[in-house]
Amino acid sequence: MGRAVAARRVGQNVLDDIIMSESKVFRADLARSVRLFRASRTEQTAPEAYYTALAQDTILQLRQYTELDGRIVIDVGGGPGFFVRELNRMGARSFCIDADSGEMAALGPPEDGSIVASATRMPIASGAVDVCFSSNVLEHVRDWPAMLAEMVRVTRPGGIVFVAFTNWLSPYGGHETSPWHYLGGERAVARYQRKHGKMPKNRFGHSLHQVSVAEALSWARSAQDAVVVDVVPRYLPGWTRPLVRVPVLREFLTWNLLLVLRRRLAAVGAPAAAPGSRPGSLVRRVGGFGRLAAGRRGHLCGGSFGGGVLGLW
Ligand SMILES: C[S@@+](CC[C@H](N)C(=O)[O-])C[C@H]1O[C@@H](n2cnc3c(N)ncnc32)[C@H](O)[C@@H]1O
Repeated sequence: MGRAVAARRVGQNVLDDIIMSESKVFRADLARSVRLFRASRTEQTAPEAYYTALAQDTILQLRQYTELDGRIVIDVGGGPGFFVRELNRMGARSFCIDADSGEMAALGPPEDGSIVASATRMPIASGAVDVCFSSNVLEHVRDWPAMLAEMVRVTRPGGIVFVAFTNWLSPYGGHETSPWHYLGGERAVARYQRKHGKMPKNRFGHSLHQVSVAEALSWARSAQDAVVVDVVPRYLPGWTRPLVRVPVLREFLTWNLLLVLRRRLAAVGAPAAAPGSRPGSLVRRVGGFGRLAAGRRGHLCGGSFGGGVLGLW
């Protein structure tokens, strides 16, 4: 059997087996966590199927908090656009913002309307989107509080900020250098370099930063323009939720933290923007996406993720 055929077959299995794509109901049960865990093992062999499956799962999870039909959604650090495609399939009008055109073009031409820009300074008008979404980007941004603040800024009053990230002390906190990050980020990088003869793509202090569950929660709870709607260990069964209230333990066991915030209504008596409406122009200043067509076809953002079991977890 040819390699491509084998990869397609693995991919089909991932889609058939893992995610309840036709299901309209999100169930954070143990079976779902096991399915996600098994899917993560195919990240290297069938990345498109794996990321499609993950996107289907995550967008169902998002729909617990907001309608998507007709809503304007941005995916911050969206990479190759799997989440945007799934959001659009669910009726949203969504587009991707990413600082790296190579990531966006990793698996083919990016979706229409994609924007090259930094998450900490988005060319989006304040209050312009219904939902500001981000998956596994926060830990790659040095000034992550600025990214969170920016996500809140561009969300309309009453809209949802949905942000998930791998916290540093998660078993996958060091990404492809895991679990050696437990001995220190720099030491883990040095070990990776010795073993593989190259730098890891997710390099501690450069493209990978320490974000703890405690710091992210503290930021969210003190945010002036948003209230915390939910805090969840993203991939784990629902009954593990109380974990996020246990200091220290939560840093090791949460794996990946999902924070859901709601943008506060502006002022008492002030009317909230209607869902799907655009206050003025949505895009303030677009980061010249034409460039992307000529951009390099790069690697998946997961790139050289440790793969296998560590791929997702
Ligand atoms: C691990 S990938 C995640 C991609 C996708 N969200 C997912 O979950 O599969 C991290 C992405 O964040 C992007 N990124 C990193 N720093 C960024 C920044 N400051 N502003 C915007 N995007 C950024 C990278 O280019 C990359 O596409």
